[in-house]
Amino acid sequence: MNQPESLPSEFVESLARAADRLGLFARQMLWYPDVPSTNDLAAALAEHGAREGCVVVADAQSAGRGRQGRSWASPPGAGLYVSTVLRPAEHALSLLTIAAGVAIADGIHTATGLVPDLKWPNDVFVGGRKAAGVLAEATSSAAGTYVVLGFGINVSLAAYPPEVAARATNLEGELGRAVDRGLLLAECLCSLAARYQDLASGRSDAVVEAWRGRAASTLGRRVQWNAAGAALNGVAENIDDTGALVVRTNTGLARVTAGEVTWL
Ligand code: BTN
Repeated sequence: MNQPESLPSEFVESLARAADRLGLFARQMLWYPDVPSTNDLAAALAEHGAREGCVVVADAQSAGRGRQGRSWASPPGAGLYVSTVLRPAEHALSLLTIAAGVAIADGIHTATGLVPDLKWPNDVFVGGRKAAGVLAEATSSAAGTYVVLGFGINVSLAAYPPEVAARATNLEGELGRAVDRGLLLAECLCSLAARYQDLASGRSDAVVEAWRGRAASTLGRRVQWNAAGAALNGVAENIDDTGALVVRTNTGLARVTAGEVTWL
């Protein structure tokens, strides 16, 4: 397994300043110059008993993974590639990725002033293009039940593959100036700690409300999905208190919970 190295100075000061807001993420942070995937590394650590709140950060990933089996381009120094080990209570599971989307959007907002919005369930958009994404992977094994919650943020322009470059953006490009990755990491982890605490202590309504407040890329948009072999479509109207997308179709309201949706 890769060995962690000391956290680069660009992160040390911001994380120290945020120490009293980092909550469970103040416990253990591991930095790696280059790993295949921080989610895979965090899962391996969880299997070996890593505590809840362990954070894995890499400067580059050679096999970064996205949702739906896609890859996540992770060039060196151009983004944040972060995974956390969580051991949530059963009741917190269904809204975890919704909470993470809100937290990353809030963290970007606080650190940069940019105003991200969310495409259900948790794609983070800036200026109409994707700037960040969340990948939550739950496992039950002899090591218990845990979730590796990973997020990736495109911070600066890099040699992204053409198919990524066409539909993605980066924070520095949107902002027109350099972004402090240390501050960005600290603010995302602080927001994630706070939203995780919301879920743990039964304040899921606050999480759903915050998500709705950032849902400009979702609400009012026409969406298509497959159910029982048929293609259905309608207009996204809301999310419910379980995080499902509520869509108005010709025949009434439908809840969309799983699988890929296509935005039309
Ligand atoms: C998405 O498809 O939108 C989710 C992308 C998640 C990417 C992050 S980068 C850090 C962590 N490690 C991975 O391999 N994937 C996630």
